[in-house]
Amino acid sequence: MRATASAPGKVILFGEHFVVKDQPAIAVAVSLRAYVTATLLKEKTIRVYSRNLALSREYTLPPADDKNPLYPVAHAAFTVLNKLGAYHGISIEIDSEIPPSAGMGSSAAVSVATIAATAKAMGEDLRLEEISRMAYEAERIVHGRPSGIDNTIATYGGAIAYRKSEGFLRLNVDFKDVSLILADTGKPRSTGLLVKRVLDLYDAFPSVLEPIYYAAGRLAVEAAKMMERGDWEAVGALMNVNHGLLSAIGVSTIELEQIVYAAREAGALGAKLTGAGGGGYAVILCKRDHEGKIIEELRKVSPRLLKLNVENTGVSTS
Ligand code: PMV
Repeated sequence: MRATASAPGKVILFGEHFVVKDQPAIAVAVSLRAYVTATLLKEKTIRVYSRNLALSREYTLPPADDKNPLYPVAHAAFTVLNKLGAYHGISIEIDSEIPPSAGMGSSAAVSVATIAATAKAMGEDLRLEEISRMAYEAERIVHGRPSGIDNTIATYGGAIAYRKSEGFLRLNVDFKDVSLILADTGKPRSTGLLVKRVLDLYDAFPSVLEPIYYAAGRLAVEAAKMMERGDWEAVGALMNVNHGLLSAIGVSTIELEQIVYAAREAGALGAKLTGAGGGGYAVILCKRDHEGKIIEELRKVSPRLLKLNVENTGVSTS
């Protein structure tokens, strides 16, 4: 049996890093997806092949952590085989449109799609909560101490407010008047290392960092209201404040600052780094009719721009 599943990438609009310590955050799923085809094998092995990363690896069961970037995927597939009591192996073929190591949730989307495709190949549909929970375990291998926002948004799609201790809330937002532009710094980075660096800073100066975290949490709550109201001027202003807080905790870079300031000077409503920072992408919010001018200015400071739509479909199987 063979089955294909896909899951979307994401952009965090508010609250990355602060969400790791249980502040609320806001993310949207975007129109780039990871596709996974799972095929049952007679042999008791897990074969993983990534088309876009040109990587492949074969694991005997249970798979042992060899620090290979494909190991978390094998682990995710194995969790499903184990849960469903399989007596065979599986081949996992990944084809992802989501740039890796860029802050767009590529690993979570791959894990979510792997779990759904593996179950479907075995004739089962897992509940969304189960898929998200299993993908969280794979994310722990990739990122160390993830908040859970990436696996949640890749599973459910749309726009969500997320809090580690409370789960997620779907937001009702109409994005028709605005564009989301993603501008690459061209610098890959490791989420796990950046999260650790920020947590170390918190541990060194808790009384200084605590009010910054609190402000970030209040900001996300306010932003959710403004998004649902369609007050995009306010959303943009709050994105700028959020970027300032992320700079304060040390995850911005000169390339991110250049992009963010170029976007604001060209008339963007708001601009901030997205995801772990340290490189990766900045997200720019602008009115649809300003998009052309902003893209023209961003081309001067970013090697790659993506114009993305918000994607309402989360994980889906075929
Ligand atoms: O850059 P990404 O896509 O790996 O997102 C990381 C988001 C953080 O808030 C920094 C970590 C997390 O687990 O939420």
